[in-house]
Amino acid sequence: MNIVKTVVGAVQGAAMAVMEKAVEVAPDQLLPGGTPDPLIASPGIIGQAVSRLDGPQKVAGSAPFAAEFALDEMVFAALAYSTIAKGRIASMDVAEAERAPGVVLVMTHLDAPKLQPPPLFMTAAKAASGDSLPIMQDDRVNWNGQPIAIVLAETQEQADYATSLIAVRYDVEPAATIFDVAKQHTHPGSFQGKPLLLEVGDAEAAFAAAPVKVDAVYRTPRHNHNAIELHAATLAWQGDDLVVHDSVQGVSHVAWSLAQVFGLKEEQVHVTSPFVGGGFGGKTLWQHQVIAAAAAKLAKRPVRIMLSREGVYRVVGGRAPTEQRVALGAQPDGRLDALLHTGVVAMTTHNALPEPFVLPTQSAYAADAIKLDVQVADIDMLANTFMRAPGESVGTFALECAIDELAVELGIDPIELRIRNEPAKDPTNGRPLSSRHIVEAWRAGAQRFGWSERSGVPRSRRDGEWLVGMGCATATYPYYRMPGGAARLTLARDGHATVEIAGHEMGMGTATTQTMVTAQRLGLPMDDVTFAYGDSKFPGTVLAGGSQQSAAIGASVSAACKALVGELLKLCDGDSPLKGLKFDDVRCRDAGLCKADEPQRFETYAAILARAKRDELRVEASAPPPLETQHWSMHSWGAMFCEVRVNAITGEPRVSRFLGSFDCGRILNAKTARSQFRGGIIMGLGLALMEETQFDERNGRIMNPSLAEYHVPVHLDVPEIDVIWNDIPDPHTPMGARGVGEIGITGTGAAVANAIYNATGRRVRELPITLDKLM
Ligand code: MOS
Repeated sequence: MNIVKTVVGAVQGAAMAVMEKAVEVAPDQLLPGGTPDPLIASPGIIGQAVSRLDGPQKVAGSAPFAAEFALDEMVFAALAYSTIAKGRIASMDVAEAERAPGVVLVMTHLDAPKLQPPPLFMTAAKAASGDSLPIMQDDRVNWNGQPIAIVLAETQEQADYATSLIAVRYDVEPAATIFDVAKQHTHPGSFQGKPLLLEVGDAEAAFAAAPVKVDAVYRTPRHNHNAIELHAATLAWQGDDLVVHDSVQGVSHVAWSLAQVFGLKEEQVHVTSPFVGGGFGGKTLWQHQVIAAAAAKLAKRPVRIMLSREGVYRVVGGRAPTEQRVALGAQPDGRLDALLHTGVVAMTTHNALPEPFVLPTQSAYAADAIKLDVQVADIDMLANTFMRAPGESVGTFALECAIDELAVELGIDPIELRIRNEPAKDPTNGRPLSSRHIVEAWRAGAQRFGWSERSGVPRSRRDGEWLVGMGCATATYPYYRMPGGAARLTLARDGHATVEIAGHEMGMGTATTQTMVTAQRLGLPMDDVTFAYGDSKFPGTVLAGGSQQSAAIGASVSAACKALVGELLKLCDGDSPLKGLKFDDVRCRDAGLCKADEPQRFETYAAILARAKRDELRVEASAPPPLETQHWSMHSWGAMFCEVRVNAITGEPRVSRFLGSFDCGRILNAKTARSQFRGGIIMGLGLALMEETQFDERNGRIMNPSLAEYHVPVHLDVPEIDVIWNDIPDPHTPMGARGVGEIGITGTGAAVANAIYNATGRRVRELPITLDKLM
């Protein structure tokens, strides 16, 4: 069996390598994006600043979130959490909890229904779970905070109170909870099936021989997810079928994964997620949805589970700590001979995400020799998971601080140093760059920010007791488009178009922006387009993650529009001015079709459907596989500028100005994109100055599971954030756009740290940069 598996695996691996090579050398025309999307050149609403269509609903409180669905006979859930990091539940007394007022059910591992382990994220196309551990199936405790019981009661308060009455005894086992100990025995990390080890040339030798060197270690702490909307689900069994109103980033992923857990067919699980109050990577499948659904089955009542803020820290994974070495070897003119970015991250053994901090370094600079390596230290803790720009956010902190340190060493302006190391092709895989205009972004940003007024000498600007400094850093995030995109498009006789796709609106503006894009593609006013999403019954496997939704939805809708036009042309017979034309002959305008080079040969959609006596036309189509990402090197870029003021007496750091100058392809909606960039930058300010999970290494317990003790930026911490972009379309992506959801958090930590160095002369290599490190 194992031998067969190994042979099959090897053959598949070899086949994949051959495929990859074939895609790399294939002519552009054969690939998605080989011919630019016609929408790139068409004038219209794309790029304008359009307010959210769901804004009024949200302001009025009529947008339903997961914990606001009211189901008949519904009960409320509360979880009890383990207080040890590792061991067994020796005994559990739930009698008192069961007798408490309003309690309907107490469920533990002793009476939970039999469940399959949840499919671990990235191990299958629709796998959605943050870890692969069996859920409430045995007496094992795997992390401090693991759910050990659920209480269902008539009110939330009754459920919460009853959990306090559960008595537990544990057989405690030794746990690996100390990072410094665990990191003495590491193993190589891999991401998306590929090792996080990459070598171009002999980087160690090139580094040793380089005339100018920087070699430093940077540390980033544990972070936890803090979406404003707490994780919640309202769910019910209808016979053997399960309906879940959830707050998630992947409705079809969660539906499929829950089906695996409960041994159901995929169609038997229906997940809706019409509105989500922030996801950031944390809104996937965690134990709470599974436990609530299992308890609902036993109680035969619908269940609402909403995690408390503490519950989110116990159940939902966060970003793991990293320790990163960056070693740069350069010529006196700044050109890099060697670039090494290596280090270690904490991870659980039931998890697939070693924080991939080397990802941004793969394509950043033209070094002759490069070595990237992520090693993993196993820790007994809550599964770590995706958090906004996993890899890039903390990886750019280390890389971009080191570049700044090299600039100081060389006496070269840090922007100039970066420009001198711009590559002509991808530095690690050699692929052509799809669209890279970061130099323009640097120049435009430097001018707008007033970079020329900065002195390269630290501590040279002072305003009363405040030391003032400026710093900069490169932001970067890849263009992703994941497989599985598909959309259904229905054109009604009155000319109204409805798109249905299993995508998500988590506050980014997706629904608004995709309405704009669809309207322009079909030549319709926005009022005549409905964008329907957030339902696992809709077509497509579309993750709201990896900043890829715009591309995945854009490509799916484009395919559906093409199918629709094809169907419309089939109806253009008789006296239609479009009779006999093919897809490539026509284009959409003014709620109809015209011959591309003879626009007066035109017929409205309504007229075409009326003549054919059709009430509606419905098509469904899939996006092509995302082969473009294996053919070109496709990345977004940004030039980040920060001004800080550090109090010379107290050490208090204050960001006083920030500018992000972006090269992210064509911007689809100026208003929502600006908010996305700003939101990312604000999260980056938190990463730089505040965010830190306090993890008690004696017992593996998170000690600050609340927004009172886990600090995120508040209004007073955030200055006016200026955002500009060059709006240069990427010729190889749908609409010429690349995602903008995550790039804002990248580079921000380093820009702040570099500005603090410029202000104070103090180089802080460990986040967050709190005042004790500056006194
Ligand atoms: Mo994001 S971490 O890809 O939701």
